[in-house]
Amino acid sequence: MGKIIYLDNAATTKVDKDVLKAMLPYFTEKYGNASSLHSKGQESKKAMEEARKTIAESINARPEEIIFTSGGTESDNLAIKGLALAYPEKRHIITSKIEHPAILETCEEMQKKGYEVSYIGVDKEGIISPHDIEKAIQQDTLVVSVMHVNNEIGTIQPIENIAALCRKHNVFFHTDAVQSLGKLEIDAKKKNIDLLSASAHKINGPKGIGFLYVRNGIKIKPIISGGGHEFGKRSGTENVAGIVGMAKAVEMANEKIMKNQKRIKKMRDMLLNEILEIKGARLNGSKEKRACNNINVSFDGIEGESLLMLLDKAGIAVSTGSACSSQKLEPSHVLKAIGLSDM
Ligand SMILES: Cc1ncc(COP(=O)(O)O)c(C=O)c1O
Repeated sequence: MGKIIYLDNAATTKVDKDVLKAMLPYFTEKYGNASSLHSKGQESKKAMEEARKTIAESINARPEEIIFTSGGTESDNLAIKGLALAYPEKRHIITSKIEHPAILETCEEMQKKGYEVSYIGVDKEGIISPHDIEKAIQQDTLVVSVMHVNNEIGTIQPIENIAALCRKHNVFFHTDAVQSLGKLEIDAKKKNIDLLSASAHKINGPKGIGFLYVRNGIKIKPIISGGGHEFGKRSGTENVAGIVGMAKAVEMANEKIMKNQKRIKKMRDMLLNEILEIKGARLNGSKEKRACNNINVSFDGIEGESLLMLLDKAGIAVSTGSACSSQKLEPSHVLKAIGLSDM
């Protein structure tokens, strides 16, 4: 394969060489089980706890509020199902129409179990109104789950305002921050976030590792049973290499992406302005409230998938929607939610 221009970093990123370097010893000489009491095990445990501290500090949380998981999908599942199991009297969930399938499919599963779910719409820029969320809150609402940044159109949601409303009404607030970790500042305490999902592979970390932040005092029941790892909230031998890699990736993203947002935005807008010169090209989502790394455009008269294949032939990798749903060849639920037609 020749040189490719990879523009699909919202789907996944390349593991950074320093991240890989930090991980390698935990596959080879430092292979102890972090739950073993001997020194080889304790060596792994120490690395894992240091990583937990780094990750916690990056979102202004405490180490014991971080539960390691296999990624964003599991964190989203654990947030919703774990809360539902812990607070069975609350039978209503609020989310948005533009969430990732990890939340939408989980909510559909909950509906099949008898839960009521309110799916809140967005405006034509893809922004959710906190007022609409507040209107949907009921006596038995368990949780409001609204993503921080959308994975397709990059819109940044007013999660701070939504979280404040949830706190006022005594409802838990969860945010899927898979697309914002390392790109936007996240202060879990200041923003009143109760639960937050994240994943390493979107920020040059390895695939198959993520975390769920659960604010102290909030109960969740495990959805994976076993040896009681991760404070009894997520069993399974810890993925120490992945955890160490994720902490390194978080550190690097804070340095390289977060502090360079202005420069990245400038480059993004240069590319965007060139693309918008093409007749029939339109930007989807908000121009202002948009993550620095995202462009989503529609072109009149050409099918997204055909364009994707043509660009691939030219050595440019892009997506027409969420990587998880791209095989379904259905129009994006996010683009439909902002009012675009199928054609
Ligand atoms: C917003 C969002 N949530 C959840 C996920 C799932 O994360 P993971 O791939 O780590 O399971 C993704 C990644 O595709 C995402 O973009």
